[in-house]
Amino acid sequence: MSKLLTPIDKNGLKLKNRVAMAPLTRCRAGEDDVPQPMSELYYAQRASAGLIITEATNITPKSCAFEKAPGIYSAAQVQAWKKISDKTHAAGGTLFMQLWHCGRVGSDAVLNGNAPLSPSGINDDLHSLIVYGLMANGRYAQITATPSKEMTIQEIEETISDYAHATENALAAGLDGVEIHAANGYLIHQFLSPTTNQRTDDFGGTLPKRLEFLKRVIEAVLSKAPKSKVGIRISPFAAYNNTRDPNPEETYVAVAKLVEEFGLAYMHLADTNAWAGAPDMEKILNIVKPNYSGCLIGNGGIEPDQAINMVESGQVDIVAFGRAFIANPDLAIRIAQGGPYNEARYVGWYGGDEEGYTDYPSL
Ligand code: PHB
Repeated sequence: MSKLLTPIDKNGLKLKNRVAMAPLTRCRAGEDDVPQPMSELYYAQRASAGLIITEATNITPKSCAFEKAPGIYSAAQVQAWKKISDKTHAAGGTLFMQLWHCGRVGSDAVLNGNAPLSPSGINDDLHSLIVYGLMANGRYAQITATPSKEMTIQEIEETISDYAHATENALAAGLDGVEIHAANGYLIHQFLSPTTNQRTDDFGGTLPKRLEFLKRVIEAVLSKAPKSKVGIRISPFAAYNNTRDPNPEETYVAVAKLVEEFGLAYMHLADTNAWAGAPDMEKILNIVKPNYSGCLIGNGGIEPDQAINMVESGQVDIVAFGRAFIANPDLAIRIAQGGPYNEARYVGWYGGDEEGYTDYPSL
């Protein structure tokens, strides 16, 4: 049997196989961004994965890049997520929640009239930020980001507390752990890049100061969860959401060293440019591998055969699949059998009902 299908027990992370489901924004929350019952079936259907990482989940109503993405800040959301984790566990799955703050990637149209929050109010590139809103006819459409405002120290401290609160809520909802989303141009990534972080206080200016927000977030999360239940997702080279780090090698060697010091369970390497056919995985691994000894999850346009080789050769410990899990609820079982695979349809990718969500057949 391929190593990809074998259990892993490393750095406190124990999984039945090395096939992970990547975080997938699906925009199906109901009123007040509470997940709806159809998400119970959606996640439980995918329990063949050794690890399911939930869709990016907002830690505060001050964060929104995709209207109707769920939250994890209210009691009603915790109750709804509890049903999801119960059903996923009953099906044999393991579920980590991706904790999301979108920072400047937002619009006052989806933030109750408020401006998005960001490290430095850099707004020269609003056209390149990916924000989706729900139209009156029920369809989703990309909308233009509106200018963000530079966070005050008090807003930074409140946001750090939001991460602790969200972690507490995720564990109360029965999730097996949390993933700190530090990738793809969202708030933490914005603090890491000197282009989007031009602060001159404790949170910006030098590399250690650009790392300070991430450090404080990790500390906040670890105040509520053991390190074996905490992972982090990074995307050093991602063009997505235009974070424009001029020296990703320097920034992410420091990030990997920081994560190593804290001993987090895994680093999830998002090769986001591979979505557009320009993979950076080798460069990412060259940065991270010498500096971090825990579990590495590779993600971004990786086909099953390639995943088998990457795990067999020790390049990564686990591979996360996104699109393949949209279309193949039983993906790990299909990989074990060498396929066949359903193709993902665009219908219902973002928003909608059961169509394109829970109606893909298992073998
Ligand atoms: C990701 O984790 O890669 C991710 C999450 C939410 C997005 C885009 C990417 O909107």
